[in-house]
Amino acid sequence: SEHGCLSVIVLGASGDLAKKKTFPALFHLFAQGFLQSGEVHIFGYARSNLSDDGLRERIRGYLKGASEEHLSDFLQHIKYVSGSYDSGEGFDKLNKEILEYEMSNKSENSRRLFYLALPPSVYPSVCKMIRKYCMNPSGWTRVIVEKPFGKDLDSAEELSAQLGELFDENQLYRIDHYLGKELVQNLLVLRFANRLFLPLWNRDNIDNIQIVFREDFGTDGRGGYFDQYGIIRDIIQNHLLQVFCLVAMEKPVSLKPEHIRDEKVKVLQSVNPIKHDEVVLGQYEGYKDDPTVPDDSNTPTFASVVLRVHNERWEGVPFILKAGKALSSRKAEVRVQFKDVPGDIFKCKRQGRNEFVIRLQPSEAMYMKLTVKKPGLEMATEQSELDLSYGMRYQNVKIPEAYERLILDTIRGDQQHFVRRDELKAAWQIFTPLLHDIDAGRLKAIPYQPGSRGPKEADELSEKVGYMQTHGYIWIPPT
Ligand code: BG6
Repeated sequence: SEHGCLSVIVLGASGDLAKKKTFPALFHLFAQGFLQSGEVHIFGYARSNLSDDGLRERIRGYLKGASEEHLSDFLQHIKYVSGSYDSGEGFDKLNKEILEYEMSNKSENSRRLFYLALPPSVYPSVCKMIRKYCMNPSGWTRVIVEKPFGKDLDSAEELSAQLGELFDENQLYRIDHYLGKELVQNLLVLRFANRLFLPLWNRDNIDNIQIVFREDFGTDGRGGYFDQYGIIRDIIQNHLLQVFCLVAMEKPVSLKPEHIRDEKVKVLQSVNPIKHDEVVLGQYEGYKDDPTVPDDSNTPTFASVVLRVHNERWEGVPFILKAGKALSSRKAEVRVQFKDVPGDIFKCKRQGRNEFVIRLQPSEAMYMKLTVKKPGLEMATEQSELDLSYGMRYQNVKIPEAYERLILDTIRGDQQHFVRRDELKAAWQIFTPLLHDIDAGRLKAIPYQPGSRGPKEADELSEKVGYMQTHGYIWIPPT
């Protein structure tokens, strides 16, 4: 085949991420034939003492419901190597296993993809070991890393510098799995391939934009990790900020990954410092019951933060980034609210403004709220929707999992949907002062009821900066 054999090395093979995301994504790619452009082998590496079959049995357990035919075929391509994350011995052994496979395959352009499904504390040592023992002598070596990339600007820069000494930027794939979601990828097309939006997408027409993430469960046994980071580092500084970039950035010169990422960096650099009176933090009641969370924790599980972009397109338009755990529902959406109609004769304002909503999940959809004549004999108006629900319009299309797409992009060498080093730095620059103030206790998290909308102060903040709640109010003019 034109491609050499592929080795995917999952480091942290017995951990949670590997179990929930990495192995299932690899399996689905395999089952659809995407990994077999050459031969493929998957190596699990971790500290636990496991046999090849031991790992295979575990993976089988993660993939309940998969077709047996594909599954047994897939499992034959799996091997396990045990070793620690800082010993040369383990990585030397790993390299020998990979080499042996590559030699048996006799292909010239072998490919090595290392997936770090590991806690960030071991990134530097693992990367050193890969660099020292496991570099591919005959084809490419690429490394996928997952957030958290540091805790603030300085620690992130330090990590970037350490990894930067070991690998070139084009070997490093920083995953933000939101960039693998269908409706996030659609944002670029939506904005730049539709004449309709071009003249509207600015401060003259848009009043405010909300980018919202809600989950209807709490930290669920991840309290130990979560308490060190909080909702801003866990969701807002990465996932929501990436969505923000795609909504707010200027048109890239082309679709080349570098052109797109140049525009993201530019819009991030245009964000003003965050003001304390445009932030609301919350913590759900019961969060501290987790034994791994300290009793006096001030870590926010909810945050609403207003970003202000200092440029010609967006001056004066608040971007409200809101995320919370243990809320009433699970949903992620972008809500673009337009300004009121000038010289309105219908009292549209009382019924709600035009809104364009992009629902990232669940049930992917885009819909536009319009004021229409309420059908009937009376001249009454009401709000209705132009609705593109993917479940209806694309009934027979299976929307791929974010991780499947991103792993495939890595194999293809496409970095468009990965975070570049300067982008990461710009993202940390926005949030670091606020995070330091929170860590020092200068901003307090307001308690909220699990299963609620979060602190009411967050809704008040949205309204204060201009968001207008729609009430589905019907206006019937006096006769
Ligand atoms: C992860 C966060 O990055 O994203 C989790 O660490 C969160 O806290 C998850 O639950 C949400 O991802 P998704 O794809 O389910 O929206």
